[in-house]
Formats: sequence, structure tokens, C-alpha cells
Amino acid sequence: MSKNLISIQDFSKDEILEILKMAAEFEENTCQPIFKDKVIASIFFEPSTRTRLSFETAANRLGARVIGFTDSINTSVAKGETLKDTIKMISNYADLIVMRHPLEGSARYASEISKVPVINAGDGANQHPTQTLLDLYSVYKTQGTLENLSISVVGDLKYGRTVHSLLQAMSHFNPVFLLTSPAELALPREYKEYLINKGIRFMETTNLTDVIPNSDIIYMTRVQRERFTDPIEYERVKNIYSLNASMIKGSKPNMKILHPLPRVNEIAIDVDESSHAYYFEQAHNGIYVRMAIITKLLKSL
Ligand code: CP
Repeated sequence: MSKNLISIQDFSKDEILEILKMAAEFEENTCQPIFKDKVIASIFFEPSTRTRLSFETAANRLGARVIGFTDSINTSVAKGETLKDTIKMISNYADLIVMRHPLEGSARYASEISKVPVINAGDGANQHPTQTLLDLYSVYKTQGTLENLSISVVGDLKYGRTVHSLLQAMSHFNPVFLLTSPAELALPREYKEYLINKGIRFMETTNLTDVIPNSDIIYMTRVQRERFTDPIEYERVKNIYSLNASMIKGSKPNMKILHPLPRVNEIAIDVDESSHAYYFEQAHNGIYVRMAIITKLLKSL
């Protein structure tokens, strides 16, 4: 059976560490055309800049060819074709499918239909496992370890799929989580129960200023406007946190600010020049991590 990457829980701790090791090797040697005979389908039913383009860059650097679409309006989905039939067709054409879709569970469903491995590039508010692997790679590069870190996760913990995957992956490494959000955007109960069952320490707060001095990592997130059913609720919380340069003056020397991006107002541009800012390097790391993920899944065939 081919391997998929739908949830970060599809990879064991050892497999996560294997991906990080492979990513470091690809970063050393970025051009390794080992999949010249492979075709990768990049199918995005939702907007993306980093995930799509870094996957396509990764595929190109591995010598694979890329097919796909960035908007289903130009596909037969617009004529009423189901996701099931769409995936059935694409898995006849490609050796690997990278899919982003607004519906939670859509990537798992696609993997049950596809003849070839499926990578979840984000399914609604559920999971974004490849983002998490590049987040872990970024944490490791900046801290020299993944173990015993204090990680503040800030913003939209309810709808932020990168948050959900990150909490599960970091739980292998004995973290302390400082969960910082307004009550409306608190971490859903199922993820809190996951942390409790794993014995992971966490605290919840609404106060960003309080968590900064104790953090090794501050993981900022955007309030996910596209997931709100009530626009008034979005307006109430959209600018709830905005990290600026004066707020991080007392932080630990090793502290790094991550953000899956895109940002809106949650990190002021005066932070960009700080030695604590790492979010653009983090996005760059996505190429090497996605080269590693593609390699692992294509070699599982
Ligand atoms: N981090 C992330 O998923 O960015 P994009 O939406 O631009 O792919």
C-alpha cells in the first residue's frame, strides 16, 4: 500500500526525524534530479502562495514534472464533476498528488480513492502536516534541538490548521505550550484532550505580553477570515494581537518568531529586521522539507 501524508499523525517520531535529516541533506545539495520519470499533480482548490510554489519548486529540483491547477473553476469541477471522479482521473495521470481543499477530511477521502500517494496541503481548519514538518525543521535549525522548548502559540487556535498539526508533532518532544488566544478562538477541546492524554504541559491565556519573556518560540498565526460563518465575530477578533519590536525587547536571546504566513496585522513590519524574526527563512525551508516529503512518498511506491 502506498504511503500518504494526510495528518501529521501518519508519521511516527522516527519518520519526522528522518524527514528533517533528509531536508538538511537537500539543503546542502539542492539539485538532485532523481525523479525524472515522475509526474506530480499539484491541485489547489483554495488559494496558496508558499505551499504550492514551494512544492512545485521542490518537484522541479527533483527533476519531476508538475501538472495541476490553482483554481477548480477551470476544471470539470465547474461542470459538476465530483471530488471522487476528479481524484480517480488525476491518479491515472500522476505518480503523486498534492492537494489543498477547503473541506475538512477531503484529503483523507482523496487518499482512499487515489491509486497514488496523496499529500494534504491543507484541508479546511483540520491539518497542514507539511507546514508542520517545515516548522519543526525551522525550530531545530534555530534552537539546535526540538526537546524541552517553551512554545507560545498565538492567535487563531480554533481554525488554524497549522496549529493543530504543530501541537501534535511537537508533543513527541516534551514541550510546554503557552496557548494564547481570545476565548472565541481557543484551541478546540479535542486538541486539548490530545495534549492531556499525552501528558503535555500547557496553559491558556489571553495575554500575549505575559508569554513573551518565557518563550523559546513564538508561533504567530493569522485569524482565518475564510473559516468564519459570522463576519461580525471576525471583525471583533481580527486585530486581537499585533506583535511589534518594542514588545520583544525583553525576550530570551534564542527566541525566534515563526509564522506560517501569510500575515495580515499580527506581526508589525518593524519586527522584520529583528534577529528574532525567522518567518521568511521558515518559508524558504519549505522547499527542502517538501523535497524530503516527496522523496519519502515516491520511494514508498
Ligand atoms: N503557510 C501556507 O500554507 O501558506 P500559503 O497559504 O501561501 O500556501
